[in-house]
Amino acid sequence: MSTENTLEAKVSAATKRKEYREKKEETRKAFKQARFEEAAAGSEGSPSPAPESATPEAVELPRKRFYRQRAHSNPFSDHRLEYPRSPDCMNWSTLYPGYYDEEKSQMTAGVEIADVGCGYGGLLINLAKSFPETLCLGMEIRVQVTQYVEDRIIALRKKHAEDKANFQNISVLRGNAMKFLPNFFRKGQLSKMFFCFPDPHFKQRKHKARIITNTLLSEYAYVLREGGVVYTITDVHDLHEWMVKHLEEHPLFERLDEAWEKQDKCVQLMWNSTEEGQKVSRNKGDKWIACYRRLPTPDDCD
Ligand SMILES: C[S@@+](CC[C@H](N)C(=O)[O-])C[C@H]1O[C@@H](n2cnc3c(N)ncnc32)[C@H](O)[C@@H]1O
Repeated sequence: MSTENTLEAKVSAATKRKEYREKKEETRKAFKQARFEEAAAGSEGSPSPAPESATPEAVELPRKRFYRQRAHSNPFSDHRLEYPRSPDCMNWSTLYPGYYDEEKSQMTAGVEIADVGCGYGGLLINLAKSFPETLCLGMEIRVQVTQYVEDRIIALRKKHAEDKANFQNISVLRGNAMKFLPNFFRKGQLSKMFFCFPDPHFKQRKHKARIITNTLLSEYAYVLREGGVVYTITDVHDLHEWMVKHLEEHPLFERLDEAWEKQDKCVQLMWNSTEEGQKVSRNKGDKWIACYRRLPTPDDCD
């Protein structure tokens, strides 16, 4: 194939991906806040006909290949992220419409579980089924990957609108978990935080970009309640040792032993439900787990 043809093929594929995502964006805008029984009923007889991509029929599971994005995003760049001034200013109703009481104008539950760097959302989907009454949030820095997860959740909400596990309890937010976490969550709000196959940042000069550092652990300890758990899993042994070292050194975390890991359902979930975990399994790679309990804050630190 000539260079010209290759270039043409690349441009055509990129245009196709863009067009697909633009259609999906219309669907997302129309149904992001939908509870679905109402959305389907509401769209009939609406005064101005909605574009085809914004009708309930258009809501279907997204195709991942249209959302692929470069693997690494620099957590230190300015991503022009939106974040609330404080947790009280955060409008969660747009992310969890099924948990918003319109009469009282308030949420009926708060986020308790965070999947940090959730990627394509495999763990979130499983958490939705295992904890159907608990609000779970994925945080993801890459735009298109976040959009894929949003579209996936919208499609699942529509498909399972009548089921007990109706996916109204999971959502995703584009954000940098290394910044602004206390802007989203109150002190002690979370019961579990997952760090599944975080970016390894292999080179020594890039270690400061790792998602587990002394400073960040203090922020995680702040948003985690006493007894809450930090879950980590990776296929990179050096990164596992790094995470264990930093968690061991932090006074507010204590490692949970293998017996605890064996009986904990979230450990089973994170082993194979994330896209990265499944890839490691397919390639017959090793996986290392470390889970830590958030200890009570000593009285003189409060
Ligand atoms: C190797 S992937 C793993 C994704 C997913 N947890 C899994 O196991 O399939 C790491 C993910 O973390 C995201 N990420 C990296 N740094 C982040 C940050 N500071 N805040 C939020 N997400 C981040 C990346 O964009 C990427 O999607």
